[in-house]
Amino acid sequence: MATAGKVIRCRAAVAWAPGKPLSVEEVEVAPPKAGEVRIKIVATSICHTDDHVLKGSLQKVEFPVIPGHEGAGIVESIGQGVTSVKPGDKVIPLCLPQCGECSFCQNPESNYCQKTHFSEPQNLLPDKTSRFTCKGKQIHHYLWISTFAEYTVVPEYAVAKIDAAAPLDKVCLIACGFSTGYGAAINTAKVKPGSTCAIFGLGGVGLSVVMGCKAAGAARIIAVDINKDKFAKARELGATDCINPRDFNKPTQEVLTEMTGQGVNYSFEAIGHVDTMIAALASCNASTGVCVMVGVLNSEISIDPVLLLTGRTWKGTLLGGWKTRECIPKLVSSYLEGKFNSDLLITHTLPFAKVNEGFELLRAGKSIRTVLLF
Ligand SMILES: NC(=O)c1ccc[n+]([C@@H]2O[C@H](COP(=O)([O-])OP(=O)(O)OC[C@H]3O[C@@H](n4cnc5c(N)ncnc54)[C@H](O)[C@@H]3O)[C@@H](O)[C@H]2O)c1
Ligand SMILES: [Zn+2]
Ligand SMILES: [Zn+2]
Repeated sequence: MATAGKVIRCRAAVAWAPGKPLSVEEVEVAPPKAGEVRIKIVATSICHTDDHVLKGSLQKVEFPVIPGHEGAGIVESIGQGVTSVKPGDKVIPLCLPQCGECSFCQNPESNYCQKTHFSEPQNLLPDKTSRFTCKGKQIHHYLWISTFAEYTVVPEYAVAKIDAAAPLDKVCLIACGFSTGYGAAINTAKVKPGSTCAIFGLGGVGLSVVMGCKAAGAARIIAVDINKDKFAKARELGATDCINPRDFNKPTQEVLTEMTGQGVNYSFEAIGHVDTMIAALASCNASTGVCVMVGVLNSEISIDPVLLLTGRTWKGTLLGGWKTRECIPKLVSSYLEGKFNSDLLITHTLPFAKVNEGFELLRAGKSIRTVLLF
């Protein structure tokens, strides 16, 4: 492409400091270095984790930063040595990389690549420099992929080529929210047919858990949220019961235990609060129940050890347990084959310039997923 090897000036949403709205700026995006890929982002959706970023509640993020991690685009140019993608390919940038070489990548049971931000900071590209500048200042990357930019540069092990037929304004959800929730049910909890499940939090992630439980053949799917406006969509996606903790004057774990006899087989927390994390853990049955922590928790948690001593399993999940580089393209193919309909999670589509409006909708509980188009 004509831009290969050149600096590209384009739009991006910059978070200059925690607690401030994003500002849509003109930024410079340097060409990819060896082992890197420059992508033209076509669509990016808003995940609650980006809101944690804007609030400054994630310790590993450095400001100023270009957030965004649920996007899809087209390769503009590649750096030296890149072989898995070429200019013109449709791709999804991966917020969880798959280097293929670390011990976790080599373990078929794990998707926690050691290049993930919990092990290695991803505020700069692996060579410890940024490809973004704005008004003469260096801007940090977020999770290496910064999808709130019209062009972004990512390491090759943080991008996956997808089917050329994929609609980018829809499959951007497969980059994080959908895959996380669906995989939490299928891969992490391994929900069995006929089982009973409870999902705390009915945002894009929790509703994708509902879809995963349904696909796995769960017989009863209990959806829990303090916003009753989420219940119609939850039912449409497979929830059999919907409960609002504010309608009861006792802990939700007691409500669920009464509804099910001894607690659910599988519970999921897709909010990121201490009290709901404990409620989810206590809601699954004391002996063989499995609770999956999906929500991002920013504070310490203390629990009664008896909750685990009796036999429950408490697990976490990163991006639904998928080995991203190999599984994200397969999920896109499954979407194209009609095996699931993640489009049902898209409640709003806005031009990129309205990114702050998208966050306001999320905070007001009025959206599930808002897709931003460049
Ligand atoms: N583990 C991962 O890999 C991963 C990936 C993506 C997102 N996340 C995390 O998952 C969580 C959910 O993300 P999302 O984009 O679906 O968010 P969201 O804001 O769209 O949804 C959260 C839902 O929780 C509900 N809620 C809030 N407080 C509640 C309470 N006390 N009781 C019951 N319901 C309550 C809200 O009404 C809302 O419907 C976030 O913490 C996000 O950071 C984790
Ligand atoms: Zn996300
Ligand atoms: Zn790895």
